[in-house]
Amino acid sequence: MEQVHILLHCARLSINEFFDAYDSAETVGITVFIVLSLIWLKNFLFQEESLAARINRVVFKVAKILPAVSLKIECEKKKATNDFQTNMLRLHEGRPYVTHLPKTGWSRERILEEVKSNLKLGHYKWKEGYVSGCVYNLNDELVKILTEVYGLASYTNPLHPDIFPGACKMEAEVVRMTLNLFHGSEEACGTMTSGGTESILMACKSYRDYAVEEKGIKHPEIVIPVTAHPAFDKAASYFGLRIKHVPVDPDTTTVDLKAMRRYISRNTCMIAGSAPNFPYGTIDPIEDIAALGRKYNIPVHVDSCLGGFITAFMDKAGVSHPPYDFSIPGVTSISADTHKYGFAPKGSSVIMYSEKKFLHHQYCVFPDWPGGVYGSPTVNGSRAGGIIAACWATLMYFGVEGYADATKKILQTTKYIEEGLRKMEEIFIFGKPGTSVIAIGSNVFHIYLLSEGLTKKGWNLNPLQFPCGIHLCVTYMHTADGVADKFLSDVREEIEIIMKNPKADVAGKTDHHTGLCEKQAESSLDKQHEPSSLMAMYGMAQSIPDRSVVGDFTRYFLDAMYITKGANEEVYRNGFK
Ligand SMILES: *Cc1c(COP(=O)(O)O)cnc(C)c1O
Ligand SMILES: *[C@@H]1O[C@H](CO)[C@@H](O)[C@H](O)[C@H]1NC(C)=O
Repeated sequence: MEQVHILLHCARLSINEFFDAYDSAETVGITVFIVLSLIWLKNFLFQEESLAARINRVVFKVAKILPAVSLKIECEKKKATNDFQTNMLRLHEGRPYVTHLPKTGWSRERILEEVKSNLKLGHYKWKEGYVSGCVYNLNDELVKILTEVYGLASYTNPLHPDIFPGACKMEAEVVRMTLNLFHGSEEACGTMTSGGTESILMACKSYRDYAVEEKGIKHPEIVIPVTAHPAFDKAASYFGLRIKHVPVDPDTTTVDLKAMRRYISRNTCMIAGSAPNFPYGTIDPIEDIAALGRKYNIPVHVDSCLGGFITAFMDKAGVSHPPYDFSIPGVTSISADTHKYGFAPKGSSVIMYSEKKFLHHQYCVFPDWPGGVYGSPTVNGSRAGGIIAACWATLMYFGVEGYADATKKILQTTKYIEEGLRKMEEIFIFGKPGTSVIAIGSNVFHIYLLSEGLTKKGWNLNPLQFPCGIHLCVTYMHTADGVADKFLSDVREEIEIIMKNPKADVAGKTDHHTGLCEKQAESSLDKQHEPSSLMAMYGMAQSIPDRSVVGDFTRYFLDAMYITKGANEEVYRNGFK
C-alpha cells in the first residue's frame, strides 16, 4: 500500500514536471492527442480481422502494385475469364443465343422445340445417378402431376390472399405439415420461402431484429460452425451482422462446443448447428448447442435444409438417432428444404419457429405506404402460387410412407457405399455420415486425383477444401439397382490407377504453374472436352495464398454463366425461318 502511494506520488511529480514547460492550452492539446492516439492504437490492434491477416492483406496489396506481379495477375485473370467463358460456350455446344426479343411471338412448336434442345445440353448422366446431390428424385408420374398442378396454379400469388385464398391455404398447409414432422407445438409457426438460402436469411433477419428491438443489442453477432452453409455469410453480409465461424473437431467434423461457448458474447443474437452440414454430412451436437442457447438465453437455429426430409423420417425408416428438432427445448427455428429430400421442384423451402415472437420479426410491415398498408412475410413480394401448389402436391403424393420408404432406401445405399469405401485403405471417410452425404479424403494421394479419374468415368462429385476432400451426396437416384456397385467399382479402379503414381500432382495445379499464360489463352471452342477443369480450378485455388484473387476468379466464373455471345447470335436477331 505504502509503495503504491509513493509510486503514484512520483508519477504525479514527473507528469507535473513534464507539463511545467507548457501552458494550459498546450497541456489540454497534448492530453487530447495522447487519448486519441491510445484509442486509435486500441482500434488498430483489436479488430475483427487479426493483425497478422491485415498485414498479409496489405503485403499482397502492395505486391500487386509491382509491375511484374500485376502483369502476371492481369494475365491470369484474363486467362481465367477466357477459360470460364470457353468452358461455358463449350457446354452450350455452339447453340445460338437469343439476345433480343423476337419481333413476333413464337409458336407453341417453336418454343417447345427450343426449350427441349436447350435442356438437352450437358453430358452428365444425372438421370442414371452419376451426380452427387442436385436432383434428389425423379419420377415420371410425379412430373406429370406437377406439370398439371403448376399449370392450374401458375398465375396465383399469395400476396393477394383475398383473390387467391387457395394458394394461401396450401402454403399454410405445407408449413403446418412440416412443423408436425419436426415436432413443433401448437405455438410453432413458419412460412414457405423460395429455397434454403432464403429460409436461413429469414432466420438471421428475425433474430437480428429480435436482438435489436427486444434485447437492446446494438451490434448483433451470429455464431455458426465453419461447416455451416454460406447462406449464413450471405445473411451477415446483407443484414450487417457480425459472423463468427467456430472451428470443428477435425476427427468428428462437428462443431467444437468449447470453442462455440467461447465465441458467444453479449452481442450474440443466434447460434446455429447443421443437421447435417453440406461438406461432410455430419450432424452437429444439436442437443448441446440447444443447451448453450438455453444457458445464455440465445435463439438456436438448426439448419436442416439438406437433410430435414431425411432426419424427419429416420424413425419410421427404422434408424435410431438423437433428436434434431423442436422436441429439444431451446431449438427456436429450423430450416428444411422441400426442394431437396422433400423431392418438390426447385423453388421451395420451409422456415419454422418455435414461437410467434420470432416470426413476427421476420415479417416486413410498412403501415404508411401511399400504396396501402403493406405487409410481406418473406423476401419476395409477389410469390409463385404455382410453386407452392407443386410443393403441396409433392408432399401429398409421397405421404409419410413414401418419404419413409425413400429415406430407408437412401440411408441403406449410403451405408452400403460407406462400408465399401471404408474397405479401401488408401482413402478415409470424414467423421460419421449422419444421413446421406459421404466425404472422402486420402493421406496417400491428392484426393482430387480420384475426383478427376471419376469425372472421366462420368461421375460428378463435390470438391471440398481446407482440408481437401470430395463428397457424394446420395439421392434417390443412387438407390437404383447397380448404381452403388458401379460407383464402388469405379472408385476401386481409379485408386488402382492412381496408386501407380500416387505422388502425381492435380492436373490444374501443374498446368497453372507453368505460367504459360498466352499459350493457354488460345483455348478454343473445339478444344477437347476437359472434365478436370473444375477440379483444376480448386487445385489451383488452394495454392493461392491471396484469397482475394480466388474471390475475383469466382466472380469471373459467375460472369461466365451469363454469357450470350457467340457465332450465331445474328441468326436470332434477324428473326429466323
Ligand atoms: C442446400 C443447403 C442450403 C441452402 O439451400 P438452397 O436451397 O441451395 O438455397 C443450406 N444449408 C445446407 C446444409 C444445404 O445443403
Ligand atoms: C422469389 O423470387 C425469386 C427470384 O426473384 C424466385 O426465383 C422465386 O421463385 C420466388 N419465390 C416464390 C416462392 O415465389
